Amino acid sequence: MFETIAIVGATGAVGRIIRQLLEEREFPYRNIRFLASKRSAGTSITFKGEDFLVEEMTPDVFEGIDLAIGSTPDETAKEFCPWAVERGCVVVDESGYWRMEPKVPLVVPEVNPEAIEGHQGLISSPNCSTTQMVVAMKPLHDFGRIRRVVVSTYQATSGAGVKGQEDLKAGTRAFLAGEDYQYQAFKHPIAFNLVPQIGSPKHQGYTSEEMKMVHETHKIFGDDSIRVCPTCIRVPVDNCHSESILVETDKKITVAQARELFAATPGIKVVDDLDSGKYPMPAQCDGDDAVFVGRIREDLSSDNGLAFWCVSDNLRKGAATNAVQIAELLVKSQAAV
Ligand SMILES: NC(=O)c1ccc[n+]([C@@H]2O[C@H](COP(=O)([O-])OP(=O)(O)OC[C@H]3O[C@@H](n4cnc5c(N)ncnc54)[C@H](OP(=O)(O)O)[C@@H]3O)[C@@H](O)[C@H]2O)c1
Repeated sequence: MFETIAIVGATGAVGRIIRQLLEEREFPYRNIRFLASKRSAGTSITFKGEDFLVEEMTPDVFEGIDLAIGSTPDETAKEFCPWAVERGCVVVDESGYWRMEPKVPLVVPEVNPEAIEGHQGLISSPNCSTTQMVVAMKPLHDFGRIRRVVVSTYQATSGAGVKGQEDLKAGTRAFLAGEDYQYQAFKHPIAFNLVPQIGSPKHQGYTSEEMKMVHETHKIFGDDSIRVCPTCIRVPVDNCHSESILVETDKKITVAQARELFAATPGIKVVDDLDSGKYPMPAQCDGDDAVFVGRIREDLSSDNGLAFWCVSDNLRKGAATNAVQIAELLVKSQAAV
């Protein structure tokens, strides 16, 4: 057990879910602290029925903290992770800043739990769009070796944090009232629209979000030969990312086999009955820790292709749940020492 734990970015969209999860999953600790920026320092957070003051994150605040789960912007994580690690604190970081550092394990517990072994104080959790995709890919890859993935994402506004969620609600109200609205998290209106750009231009016409899906998939599977072609789209959905995924495998996987493989995998729920109008949808997956798959069908345009639809709560499995699962793995590995 870690004696003193902290949530860094405790006031954010992901931080709020981490608080819920630590409570729901009875994560073990003796003391808990809640850190955020100067803006929220001094406000209060109720946790397990008790009020806690939010503290400003500074280098020295990490003295005496044994485990920190961080969900802050990249630039904040760039600063605070070394502060924490130098003071003997183990960090599970949600940001994108450290994920591709060779010495930092990038972990999805259903896919590569062994990667935490030998960590050097810092473990990263992947981007939300990558996490749900690799969970769904894992049983197919183990069975038939995936050589190519074509994925289009339909990403919710909560992926851009609290401000993204506020933008969808306030932007929609303003649109319906015929008023102007100044978006905070998005550079184009998201109400009654969708935006085919998440992140900045990065590589040969692909965005930073898209290239995360390529590089993180390679790192998590330890296989750079998997070819990934992503298109990431922001859609006017409050929470839960959806993905249309086409995989091509070395060994053919039939629809029946895929359904069985998905159903046998912890962390995946199959909702797949087109005739009765049953498939995963964001409104129904909201608040669930699972990765949902449905619309499973053979690719009509290739021999070994399988297409499916995948939905998951990006604030939960895409972020907070994955981080808390990593923290649970760390507790287990301590117990095993
Ligand atoms: N949202 C998702 O679906 C998702 C999924 C996977 C990963 N992530 C990653 O998780 C991180 C957090 O995302 P989010 O959606 O929760 O964002 P958010 O709602 O904007 O929350 C950001 C949090 O970081 C804190 N923070 C900002 N600047 C800080 C500073 N200088 N010092 C200390 N704390 C600071 C904020 O505190 P204040 O309240 O004081 O500003 C807030 O608690 C990001 O790196 C994001 O890429 C998000």
